Amino acid sequence: MKTIKVKNKTEGSKVAFKILQEEIEAGAKTLGLATGSTPLELYKEIRESHLDFSDMVSINLDEYVGLSADDKQSYAYFMKQNLFAAKPFKKSYLPNGLAADLAKETEYYDQILAQYPIDLQILGIGRNAHIGFNEPGTAFSSQTHLVDLTPSTIAANSRFFEKAEDVPKQAISMGLASIMSAKMILLMAFGEEKAEAVAAMIKGPVTEEIPASILQTHPKVILIVDEKAGAGI
Ligand code: PGA
Repeated sequence: MKTIKVKNKTEGSKVAFKILQEEIEAGAKTLGLATGSTPLELYKEIRESHLDFSDMVSINLDEYVGLSADDKQSYAYFMKQNLFAAKPFKKSYLPNGLAADLAKETEYYDQILAQYPIDLQILGIGRNAHIGFNEPGTAFSSQTHLVDLTPSTIAANSRFFEKAEDVPKQAISMGLASIMSAKMILLMAFGEEKAEAVAAMIKGPVTEEIPASILQTHPKVILIVDEKAGAGI
């Protein structure tokens, strides 16, 4: 794992943008994309750039079950607002959280991943070192799968919803094996709340209790950390 230390999120997002641009110039055709606060400034850099994705494919990490693409809390909506409206891809895939048969949907998503191997995967990391919705204890061998959200995640999300029953209880997520199959991974971590997870990811044992620790075994990972997130490494 190559580590690049930067001052802050703004600088880190610019570094990430440069790497992304270089990979596209070198022929990357399929991008793995993430939601959350971590990639927001990278997406802003992209929106303001001359990059053209019209001949490329994007595949997102995860989506909530039960939310339509128009729902403001859905990841499909997030991607549209922050990237796709300004920079459309030839084809963009997110798991369909409204699929009637969710097991079939996970299988379908694995087929998409097999058809379009990810050249560059953008990743954030959770405070507990999760990647995607792969919480501690998720099998390293996991492919795309249905996830029961933890009570703490459901509670944290409830602030975005009017009624408790509207808060999603499940999500569909690429698994850890799916993420590992990307040819290159660019993981960004910003802020002190990520410091412990970053240290565990790099220095800890490779164990399913630390989902991101599997990245120690990937041949091509670049980690961009700001001073606070990198405090423990
Ligand atoms: P964040 O989430 O980018 O909103 O910090 C990252 C994650 O939980 O994977």
